[in-house]
Amino acid sequence: MISKKIHTNLGKSSWIRAMFEEGEKLRQKYGAENVFDFTLGNPDPEPPIAVKKALKDIVSSDIPGIHKYMNNAGFDDVRDSIAKKLKEETRLPISKDNIIMTCGAAGGLNIALKALLDPGDEVIVIAPYFAEYLFYIDNHGGVPIIVNADPTTFQLDLNALEKSITQNTKAIILNSPNNPTGVIYSKEILYELKELIENKEREFKSDIYVLSDEPYSKLVYDNVELPNMLNIFENIIVINSFSKSLALPGERIGYAVVSPMADDVDLLIDGLIFANRILGYVNAPALFQKVIARSLDAQVDVDTYREKRDILYNYFCECGFECIKPQGAFYLFPKTPISDDVAFINSATKYNLLFVPGTGFGYPGYFRVSYCISMDTIVNAKESIKSLAQDYDLL
Ligand SMILES: Cc1ncc(COP(=O)(O)O)c(C=O)c1O
Repeated sequence: MISKKIHTNLGKSSWIRAMFEEGEKLRQKYGAENVFDFTLGNPDPEPPIAVKKALKDIVSSDIPGIHKYMNNAGFDDVRDSIAKKLKEETRLPISKDNIIMTCGAAGGLNIALKALLDPGDEVIVIAPYFAEYLFYIDNHGGVPIIVNADPTTFQLDLNALEKSITQNTKAIILNSPNNPTGVIYSKEILYELKELIENKEREFKSDIYVLSDEPYSKLVYDNVELPNMLNIFENIIVINSFSKSLALPGERIGYAVVSPMADDVDLLIDGLIFANRILGYVNAPALFQKVIARSLDAQVDVDTYREKRDILYNYFCECGFECIKPQGAFYLFPKTPISDDVAFINSATKYNLLFVPGTGFGYPGYFRVSYCISMDTIVNAKESIKSLAQDYDLL
């Protein structure tokens, strides 16, 4: 018999997975072109040409040692390239020693939590949230404390946060641009959070770390400012990946940056590197470390994502749905016209429309629409979205 805990978790359905399976059924019945699947965060574009070229060049060259084990933190030259870029951006004394190459943002979050948490330590998660956070926290004996975002803006609710930080709070996970809302946290609110955290650290004589999960940091629209978290917080680990910015989610490549200003910085870095080893990642994929080091200036076409956002956002609004305009990432998070979001997304399948209910992000009454899909699917879905809106008397 498998572990009781895993058995229980297997029973907690992943909504994204469940909707994917529903989509498979519909695709078989009606043909893939007639199903409008807005569920997955799996980028539609191919990686940029620069990435493919770097991959070809590296594979066909004879760089010695490229396929071997290395320092658990990753290749020195790769970490050096990332550090130089970050130093330029932040003007902080960041060196390769602050960088740990990881198996995507997921790997980065897990090594950070492993390094930080003792059993029972609390980690604050802002709802709506990326559902995997709860499992990652549990992986390392932590306890998630859910704090809702401000319901009108999806910005941080500082009053709610103030009430939720306790003696046992070890970390706060931030995700901006946000999955699922697309919101970017404003500089003002982040500075207010910094003050709040520092006050609480003084009150409880504790360290509270910000874990800034930033896989969407390159997907920002309309010149909205994305505040650099390393310039705001001191006790911070930034976790980034190339899954979305270079459309490489299957390659499992990312990195963690431990701020040079963090308390116990050297110990913290050693802890993350050790966690990378003992969690069995050992090191981030060697080949793709080298590829991304040559592609740090490349990124997927953000304008195409913006165009898709505009089409869908405008269309959902025209059809009478209430929605905040996303500033980044590739998701829309409209309100469901009835309070039962699960019933709503089930009713959408009648028109071969697949969405994820807000319940899957700890935030019922909303649904997530992912637009990292083809333009054809978006355009062809319009009639179905209209029919759905008519069913709920929104039009
Ligand atoms: C908010 C958020 N964090 C982390 C991840 C994991 O990303 P990665 O593929 O880099 O592990 C995702 C993936 O969708 C995400 O949306």
